[in-house]
Amino acid sequence: MCGIVGFAFRDSFEIKDSVKALKRLEYRGYDSFGYADNNGVVGKHVGEIAIDKVPALNTKIAITHTRWSTHGGVTEMNAHPHTDCSGKIAIVHNGIISNYREIREEMEKAGHAFKSQTDSEAIAHFFENKNIKDAAPEFFSKFQGEFAVLLVKKAEEKIYAFKRGSPLVLGIAPEGNILASDIYAFSDRTNRAVFFNEDEFAEITSEGFTFYSITDTTIPIEKEITVFSWKEGEELGEYPHYMIKEIKEIPRAASRLLLSLGGEQKPAVEKVVRMLKDAKRVIFVASGSSYHAALIGVQFLARAGMEARAVVASEFRSFMLLDENTVAVAVSQSGETMDVIEAMRGIKAKGVKIASLVNVPYSTVQRMSNAHLNIGAGQEVCVAATKTFINQVITMAYMASMLGYRADFASLNDCITKALLQEERIKEIAAELKDERDIYILGRGVCYPVAREIALKLKEIAYVHAEGMMAGELKHGTLALIEKGTPVICLMPKNDKDIVSSAEEVKARGAKVISFTSNGYDSEEGVKINATDAATFAIASAIVGQILTYYIAMGKGLPIDKPRNLAKSVTVK
Ligand code: F6R
Repeated sequence: MCGIVGFAFRDSFEIKDSVKALKRLEYRGYDSFGYADNNGVVGKHVGEIAIDKVPALNTKIAITHTRWSTHGGVTEMNAHPHTDCSGKIAIVHNGIISNYREIREEMEKAGHAFKSQTDSEAIAHFFENKNIKDAAPEFFSKFQGEFAVLLVKKAEEKIYAFKRGSPLVLGIAPEGNILASDIYAFSDRTNRAVFFNEDEFAEITSEGFTFYSITDTTIPIEKEITVFSWKEGEELGEYPHYMIKEIKEIPRAASRLLLSLGGEQKPAVEKVVRMLKDAKRVIFVASGSSYHAALIGVQFLARAGMEARAVVASEFRSFMLLDENTVAVAVSQSGETMDVIEAMRGIKAKGVKIASLVNVPYSTVQRMSNAHLNIGAGQEVCVAATKTFINQVITMAYMASMLGYRADFASLNDCITKALLQEERIKEIAAELKDERDIYILGRGVCYPVAREIALKLKEIAYVHAEGMMAGELKHGTLALIEKGTPVICLMPKNDKDIVSSAEEVKARGAKVISFTSNGYDSEEGVKINATDAATFAIASAIVGQILTYYIAMGKGLPIDKPRNLAKSVTVK
């Protein structure tokens, strides 16, 4: 993860300004941050980005970094930028250098003094006393793993940029050039961008940019300028947290998506659906919440008579069934999740076509795909996926509906609105559950992935150990854990009789059953879900789970938008 930003401007600016742009990437990591310029200034701080910690200094060149630690603890020393022995070179790095131990050992033997425990510091020492451009090819061959690196050299009016694996993009702004991990760092200043491809190196000044492929750093390569459009994330406004603001945006985001799938995205939808139809095997690949949306997609497609599977991206390597009759569907909010990208690389290497569902446009996943759909949820700032998960599920239902599945899109907005109107009831339940250590969530069919998704939300945001289960599996072991007072949330759509038996089974053993219910079962104890079919029930109950999580976390006074140890964009393996 980590976020990096570099400014090369014609006129001098305050270093604080570049750190403000970095703040827009804070969802990529927030355990420490730092900055450096080409006058030898280097500053590092532990904790979230705090603009007031940055000194009032002016420069024309600066690089900045917000960290999600991988190698070395959260300390000032381990924060980026890292410098070489002479202090003339400063670098920021997003990614992981997999062979850094060997490189560090070799450099230490050669007399370099390391100050941090990070994998990144070796990069600064490598370039010590070297002409950066001349040494770039050797850097790419010596350093293994993933990296997006920005480098400044004292007294030089440029930023050197290196890209392998981790995302990097150049924004062309009126003030000069901006390098960043993603477009959001500069989308308030410009909508013109140049995306780095793999193994590219660039020299960036305030006036221009020169890109090279690492196979030949003598001849510059042509780069295309992309003009992008991206809806800005609005300010928090009346809300105390982005999580609740983003949950409340669901009706708008969902309506916008449905309009776009039937309107401007229609040709793309038709292309993706054709790919699915022509395939013998459909494999979804995703992580976290996106994986849960993919599991729901599998069920929708099954109802349309199409066999599909969902594979967790980090486990994809062991999935062998890929051939010319397969289509892979990558699902990713950020479009930058390294596990997904790695899996896609393997898939592409086998010549398999990829469709993708992404939220962040021009992301790596989108650019690697043969066809893509944009879930159009707009900027999501809270680490937890809320509105983007719902829009992923809607997109899945929409694709399946083009293949014969019947989802009640006409009632969708009403179901969503009614779920949101349950806020007061959900708050009461949250107050009751606030001190629980373990919560079980039971669902069947489409509700099983929803149960897992609610459990994930409870774990990451409310720090509750939660388990989302297939209700039928309960009696095969987990029932042993149910005792007097154990909270069990049951997802109870109208036509599911068996979930009622599961609820009775846990109740008989003393569990406290909380039903999210369309079938009237124990509705006084739970939350009524107004749903007309499996898809609307899945969506409405997921929203209720999100609100419940939010209020449990509120009750515990937790850092809701930035939970400990996590980051929104997981750009490391
Ligand atoms: C959970 C959450 C994560 C992401 C996962 C994949 O609320 O947000 O589990 O779903 O890290 O991220 P994307 O969808 O960006 O690939």
